[in-house]
Amino acid sequence: MTSPRILFFGLFVLLPWSLQGATTDSNRQFLERHWQRPIAPQGEVPASFSALEAALDPDSCGTCHTDQLADWQDSRHAHAMDPGVLGQLLDMEAEDRENHQECLRCHAPLAEQADGLVAQMTGQDESGLHRHGMVCAACHVRGHQHHGPPRRDGSTPQAGEALPHDGFRTSPAFEDARFCASCHQFPPDGYALNGKLLENTHEEWKSSRYAREGQTCQSCHMPDRRHLWRGIHNPEMVGQGVTITSSAAAAKGRARASLTLRNSATGHYFPTYVTPKIYLEILQEDAEGKPLAGTLKREIIGREVTLDITRELSDTRLAPDAQRTLHYDRPLSHSAVALVARVRVEPDYFYVRVYRSLLTRGLPDKGIDHIRRALHEARRSGFDLYRQRTPVAP
Ligand code: HEC
Ligand code: HEC
Ligand code: HEC
Ligand code: HEC
Ligand code: HEC
Repeated sequence: MTSPRILFFGLFVLLPWSLQGATTDSNRQFLERHWQRPIAPQGEVPASFSALEAALDPDSCGTCHTDQLADWQDSRHAHAMDPGVLGQLLDMEAEDRENHQECLRCHAPLAEQADGLVAQMTGQDESGLHRHGMVCAACHVRGHQHHGPPRRDGSTPQAGEALPHDGFRTSPAFEDARFCASCHQFPPDGYALNGKLLENTHEEWKSSRYAREGQTCQSCHMPDRRHLWRGIHNPEMVGQGVTITSSAAAAKGRARASLTLRNSATGHYFPTYVTPKIYLEILQEDAEGKPLAGTLKREIIGREVTLDITRELSDTRLAPDAQRTLHYDRPLSHSAVALVARVRVEPDYFYVRVYRSLLTRGLPDKGIDHIRRALHEARRSGFDLYRQRTPVAP
C-alpha cells in the first residue's frame, strides 16, 4: 500500500469544476470564467495604477478596505496555507507544478502564489503571497481588473467615476451560492465513497429548505457581507446551527437521561465534511467532578472514513432539520452525585489522524516541522459545545 500521504493527495486529483448542464445562465458563465484553474497570471500592471493599487497581498487591499481585512484575518480562508497544508506541499518536487495545483487550486489559487511556493521550495526570494492562503485577490482580481458584487444600493460604477484601481466590474455571481461551489463541491463524477461525493456541500444546501427560502452560503457565512466564514471551528457558529436539549433524573437506583441534538439552522449536513466529529455523551460524576468508570454512553455524529479515504465506515451526519437522541438508562452508581450530558466537537478529528500517521511513518521529510506544528494545533481545536450537570440524591 502506498503511504497515506500519496492517497490523501490522490483524493483531490485535479477535479475541474464541471458546471452541470448547458444553460445560458449568466452567473454560471461568469463563474466558469472566473474560476478557471489554474488562474491566469495577472499580467502587465495598467499604467495608471500606483504600486499600492497593483499589489495583490491582503495588507495592501486592507489599507483601504479595513473592515474586510480585519474579518478575513480571523477566517479559515486566511489560514488555508497553514502548516498542515504547506508541510505536505513542501514535500513535493519543487518543479512539479501540476502536483502543487492539486492543493493550490483551492488553498492558494493565484498564479503568483504558485510561483511563490516554487520560489520558497528552491530557496529563492519570494513574495510570501502563497503563505496567506485564500487572499482577497483570489476571489476579486483577474488581469488586475477588480470584480465584486453590485454596491449595496444596487449600483455599478459609471464611466468617468474616479475610483482607485480603475473602479470595479460588478456581477451578481458574487451573491450566488455557486460562487463557493468551485471549492466546496466536487463535480458529479468526482471522488465518491459509498455512492456519496466526498464534498457535497452545495448539493446538500440546494436540496434543503434554505435554498428554497433564498438563504445562500453568503447569508449565513458572510452576514451583511462580512468576511467571516465561520464554521465548525467556531463554537458560537456551531451553536447557532443546532438546538440541543437534555433531561436527566435518578430514581429507584437507576439513572435516566436523554440528550437531543437537532440540525436546526445549518444549511447543509451537520457536519458537511468527513473531517470533524461530534460526540453526544452522558455519564455519571463523583463528588470530585470525575467521570465514574463504566458509566459513559456515547454517540458519534460524523462521516467516518478510513485514513486512506478508500472506504466509508459509517455516516451518522444530520441532514438539515434532522435530529439524534442519545438515551440513557443505567444503574445509578453509589458514588454518583450528578448526571452530566455534554456535546463535544472535534473539528480536526480526521486531520489529527492524518498528521500522526505522516509523523510515525517519518513522512513528510522537508515539511516535517510544519506537520508537527499542525498536529499540535489540530489537537487543541476541540471544544465543549454543551454541558448540563444535574445533581442526583445519593
Ligand atoms: C487606495 C485604496 C484601495 C486599495 C489599495 C484597494 N481598494 Fe478596492 N476599492 C477602493 C474604493 C474607494 C472602491 C470603490 C467603492 C465604491 O465606490 O463603492 C473599491 C472597490 C472595491 C471592490 C468593489 C466593492 C463592491 O461594492 O463590489 C472590491 C471587490 C475591491 N475594491 C477589492 C479590492 C481588493 C481585493 C484590493 C487589493 C487587491 C483592493 N480592493 C485595493 C479602494 C481601494
Ligand atoms: C478557491 C477556493 C475557495 C472558494 C471559492 C471558497 N472557499 Fe471556503 N474554504 C476554502 C478552503 C481551502 C478552506 C479551508 C481552509 C483551511 O482551513 O485550510 C475553506 C474554508 C471555509 C470555511 C471554514 C470551514 C471550517 O472548517 O471552519 C467556510 C465556512 C467556508 N470556507 C465558506 C465559504 C463560502 C461561504 C464561500 C463562498 C462565498 C467560500 N468558502 C469560497 C476554499 C474556498
Ligand atoms: C476541492 C478543493 C480542495 C482541494 C483540491 C484541496 N483541499 Fe484541502 N481543504 C479544502 C477545504 C474546503 C477544507 C476545509 C474543510 C475541512 O476541514 O475538511 C480543507 C482543509 C484542509 C486541511 C486542514 C486544514 C488546515 O489548514 O490545516 C488540510 C491539511 C488540507 N486541506 C490539505 C490539502 C492538501 C495537502 C491538498 C492537496 C493534496 C488539498 N488539501 C486539496 C478544500 C480542498
Ligand atoms: C472566498 C472569496 C472571497 C475572499 C477571499 C474575499 N472576498 Fe470580498 N467578497 C466576496 C463575496 C462573495 C462578496 C459578496 C458578498 C455578498 O454579496 O453577500 C464580497 C464582497 C466584498 C466587498 C463589497 C463589500 C460591501 O460591503 O459591499 C469588498 C469591498 C470586498 N469583498 C473586499 C475584499 C477584501 C479587501 C478581501 C481580503 C481582505 C476580500 N474581499 C476577500 C468574496 C471574497
Ligand atoms: C442556514 C445557514 C447556512 C447556510 C445556508 C450554509 N451554511 Fe455552512 N455552516 C453553517 C453552520 C451553522 C455551520 C457550523 C456547523 C457545521 O460545521 O456544520 C456551517 C459549517 C460550514 C462549513 C464547515 C465544515 C463542516 O464540516 O461543517 C463549511 C465548509 C460550510 N459551512 C460551507 C457552506 C457552503 C459552501 C454553503 C453554501 C453551499 C453553506 N455553508 C451554506 C450554516 C450555513
